[in-house]
Amino acid sequence: MCLNFLSILCFIVVLSFGYVYAQNCGESMFFRPNSTYDTNRRLILSTFPSKVSSQDGYYSGSVGEGSQRIYALGLCIPGTDPKVCSDCIETASVGLLQNCPNQTDSWDWRADKTLCFVRYSNPSFFDEIDQNPNTTVCSSGVITENVTEFKSIWDDFMKNMIAAASVSTPGMPARRHYAADISLPTPGFQRFYALMQCLPGISSVNCDACLKGNVRDYKGYCGKNIGGGVLTPVCLFRWDLYPYLGAFDKITPQPISTRIIVAIVVSSVLFVHLLL
Ligand SMILES: *[C@@H]1O[C@H](CO)[C@@H](O)[C@H](O)[C@H]1NC(C)=O
Ligand SMILES: *[C@@H]1O[C@H](CO)[C@@H](O)[C@H](O)[C@H]1NC(C)=O
Ligand SMILES: *[C@@H]1O[C@H](CO)[C@@H](O)[C@H](O)[C@H]1NC(C)=O
Ligand SMILES: *[C@@H]1O[C@H](CO)[C@@H](O)[C@H](O)[C@H]1NC(C)=O
Repeated sequence: MCLNFLSILCFIVVLSFGYVYAQNCGESMFFRPNSTYDTNRRLILSTFPSKVSSQDGYYSGSVGEGSQRIYALGLCIPGTDPKVCSDCIETASVGLLQNCPNQTDSWDWRADKTLCFVRYSNPSFFDEIDQNPNTTVCSSGVITENVTEFKSIWDDFMKNMIAAASVSTPGMPARRHYAADISLPTPGFQRFYALMQCLPGISSVNCDACLKGNVRDYKGYCGKNIGGGVLTPVCLFRWDLYPYLGAFDKITPQPISTRIIVAIVVSSVLFVHLLL
């Protein structure tokens, strides 16, 4: 399904409990279906499930020459089970082939048992910062009490998360700009779970700027909502009151025993903000 909300942007956003993703078929550059670029696209994407999953969740490469050359990049949460990563990359790739028949620069942040990302374009984009188009998703509930306290804890936590994700972590590329963490229990609330990731080729300065932008947009558009995220072509921010996508399985929360009260008015708030 491809909803043409705006004539120059084809953007899909789906949100339900635990599910935030965005697929974007670019609207500035095009290729002819069945052209060499298209053949190269199928060729490189067909290798992605195995290449990304066998390299701890990151692979980038290119196929072809000149204007028919395609640069492509795939990403999973580092440490994801290879089969889970491979399946997610495959779903994202097939979705792009189906939904983006002639758009040269297209991408998909997908939530399918893990978080994964596939993007391709010509020219190369591996180290470029590009925050458009982007999507803000707000979901699941509204903070009704202790708002000020909650927000102050949330702000501090996100600040630390941005710092952790931006710094260039040594090791495999998928880990370079990745952070996932669990907060301490907050007054009247459970712990919350946040995840941030930038493309590994992005500089620390650009990753920091991208994630700061995401958190700023989230706060601006989601106000008192609980959960959601912001997705751009180079970075992602997501948070919620429960663990998701296997991202927190190996993280031990800091032990503090506290009365846990969930003050959530569960509502099916769905707010999708599309920006050009
Ligand atoms: C592309 O090629 C396939 C298989 O060769 C064919 O079925 C399809 O109609 C072609 N599409 C276009 C737009 O030429
Ligand atoms: C891209 O494909 C769509 C749908 O097949 C078509 O309407 C559009 O004209 C194509 N755009 C270009 C620039 O080829
Ligand atoms: C608000 O926070 C205080 C502690 O700072 C806590 O005692 C109270 O239960 C919280 N309110 C709600 C509705 O959780
Ligand atoms: C999203 O796009 C809008 C419009 O270009 C821009 O103003 C905003 O800063 C972008 N947000 C993020 C998080 O990059």
